[in-house]
Amino acid sequence: MRILGIETSCDETSVAILETNGRRFVLETHVTASQIQDHLPYGGVVPELAARRHVDMIFPLLVSACVPFDGSGLDVIAVTAGPGLVPSLRIGVETAKILSTVWKKQLVAVNHLEGHIYSAFLPDLTVGDKVVIQDEKKELFPILCLLVSGGHTELIIMKNHGIYERLGMTRDDAVGEAFDKVAQMLGLSYPGGPAIAARAIHGRRDAMVFPRPMKDSHNFDLSFAGLKTAVFVHLKAHPIQNEQELNDVCASFQEAAVDVLVEKTVRAALQIRPQGVLLAGGVSANHRLRDVLEERILRACPGTTLLFSPLAYSGDNAAMIAAAGYIRACRNEFVNPLELAADPHLSLV
Ligand code: KG4
Ligand code: ZN
Repeated sequence: MRILGIETSCDETSVAILETNGRRFVLETHVTASQIQDHLPYGGVVPELAARRHVDMIFPLLVSACVPFDGSGLDVIAVTAGPGLVPSLRIGVETAKILSTVWKKQLVAVNHLEGHIYSAFLPDLTVGDKVVIQDEKKELFPILCLLVSGGHTELIIMKNHGIYERLGMTRDDAVGEAFDKVAQMLGLSYPGGPAIAARAIHGRRDAMVFPRPMKDSHNFDLSFAGLKTAVFVHLKAHPIQNEQELNDVCASFQEAAVDVLVEKTVRAALQIRPQGVLLAGGVSANHRLRDVLEERILRACPGTTLLFSPLAYSGDNAAMIAAAGYIRACRNEFVNPLELAADPHLSLV
């Protein structure tokens, strides 16, 4: 099966063609246009501007991805239908609907979060590489998923391909949002996550003790608004005087965020005893989170398979959407192109 993936849920326009025989994914082509430079002056994504950039980029990307002009050779079109920014989602969804109708190809609506989950099934492959998606020798499920992005922070049990149960989620800000807001307070550039992570390398993780909200709560929910406010209050009382102090705040904030994420994930793993622990979403690019999670999970539950999204696919991309689309297509979950609508609140469970 050859799947055309289209992703436009936020500020990346991305197109990919993924081929699979059910056991392997082969990434044939993959192109992504980032809008970071467009949104930089505003310190965050401006939805209407994002939509206009998607309009500018979607067809040039289809051309540069060498998608056949008549859709020949393609079996399915998979598009992100939500969650995300409505103006952005609409560009991808409407494009996919038109192509599906004109080319007479079946259409699959993909949940963006499910896409992030499937990014962990794409190792650091370059175009043409193959990856096994089904290992008959080893049981894959259940997989405990920690999804950490700019809009979502969730702990999910993946019981099988396409079957999810939510264990917990943030009650307020997503962890990526907290990184972005704290970066803004510190005068660092957008997006805040990479900027804070880069500074944190040179900072002391124990320079300030920021709160770990809900770390000891008897559930798997999370909260990051209090941590963000604590950094704000600290900065009011102790304005940054030099580079070292700035780095220390970054390292101490990052440590608090990583600490709660890892603690909740390890506790969930001890309760569920999953075959694998999966880490995905934009914040999964954070090296401190990857290192601490790997160390703690392998200590608590030796033998657990770690499925961490490769750095190349931790951000928004169409390869992961095509991969998730394949699973939906196998289950015949096709949608009518005349009826599909972008859904900013589309839920995974
Ligand atoms: O998944 P993603 O690309 O877009 C959404 O679906 O939201 O995630 C974007 C988020 C942003 O908040 C960004 O600051 C954060 O991921 N991020 C990071 C890192 N790289 C990106 N956060 C912490 N450390 C990083 N290295
Ligand atoms: Zn995302």
